[in-house]
Amino acid sequence: MNTLLKIACSVALTASLWGQIQPKVEGHESPADVARRAVEGERATASAPQNNPFESEQDIQKGDVLFQTHCSNCHGTFGAGGRGADLTTGLYRFGGSDAELYRTIRNGIPGSEMGPPQVNDDDLWRLAAFVKRLGLAPPEDAPGDAAEGKVVYLTAGCGSCHSINGQGGTLGPDLSDVGRRRGLAFLEESLLKPEADLPTNHRGTRLLTSAGETIAGIRLNEDDYSIQIRDTSGNPRSFLKHELKGIQRDDPSLMPAYGSLLSEKQIEDLTAYLATLKGMQ
Ligand code: HEC
Ligand code: HEC
Repeated sequence: MNTLLKIACSVALTASLWGQIQPKVEGHESPADVARRAVEGERATASAPQNNPFESEQDIQKGDVLFQTHCSNCHGTFGAGGRGADLTTGLYRFGGSDAELYRTIRNGIPGSEMGPPQVNDDDLWRLAAFVKRLGLAPPEDAPGDAAEGKVVYLTAGCGSCHSINGQGGTLGPDLSDVGRRRGLAFLEESLLKPEADLPTNHRGTRLLTSAGETIAGIRLNEDDYSIQIRDTSGNPRSFLKHELKGIQRDDPSLMPAYGSLLSEKQIEDLTAYLATLKGMQ
């Protein structure tokens, strides 16, 4: 088949799929719904055009408006990131081609906080066009000195709780790619107000045993009968709930607030250093 014919076929197929598939995303999907949506998502993205059909200046502007509604609370007004990844670097873990951006946005990122937005397919493409435009912007420059920040990281003892490229502790989240996952403002906030944005799997938990002992740690897992935590010495421990006198959740973060422990310059340098950690060594 020649290329033109192939494109024509894939556009026709996509058009017919677009007719059938109404992206249906609800608060409480059953596992079967989730599985069905994943299959539909694969099918729709596999047959989607390779090049963005909605890339005019007008589409990009509309994409900006959509971005402010559906994305900016995590990615920031200018896409520089926050709770979500910095989209201005032009580096993409999930691919930066038109088709790949469309796919990431359409399906969300399983296992992350990012779900699929409730918008129609034309608007998905407009969002992809706007995200692509963001990636062409010059990269966000951290004001601090990353080399100095690395020294602060090593001397302040961050590595007792955090790992970078396999080195360090496990009480806090792995930071090897934190500079790709999070934007500058979020990174700085993590240092100043660690309780502000708790990733749920590292929630602080305090257990009171029937023997009267209090055990602090982070929650790893929990069901109706038992709870698993990693205690502050780094040991995973499991408890039956009926053997506990109490479970206190959502403690303030186990991470110290560094605003009073480090100088403003040290915080700035540390933030710059964290921003360089992209998980790509
Ligand atoms: C609830 C927060 C949240 C919302 C809302 C959100 N995202 Fe994300 N997004 C994230 C996080 C977190 C990541 C990083 C995930 C990872 O790499 O594990 C991410 C990653 C991405 C990536 C992948 C970048 C790469 O490296 O490949 C793109 C593209 C993206 N988001 C676009 C969007 C768009 C467009 C919207 C709005 C339709 C949106 N996001 C809404 C949190 C969010
Ligand atoms: C006592 C353990 C501990 C120490 C010491 C510690 N942290 Fe944390 N950190 C945590 C925990 C636990 C979290 C996860 C959520 C929360 O409680 O904020 C976290 C979260 C973070 C985050 C957010 C990560 C993400 O994925 O969103 C960053 C960035 C961070 N820490 C950097 C640092 C730096 C830099 C230092 C040293 C100045 C440091 N931490 C020292 C325990 C610690």
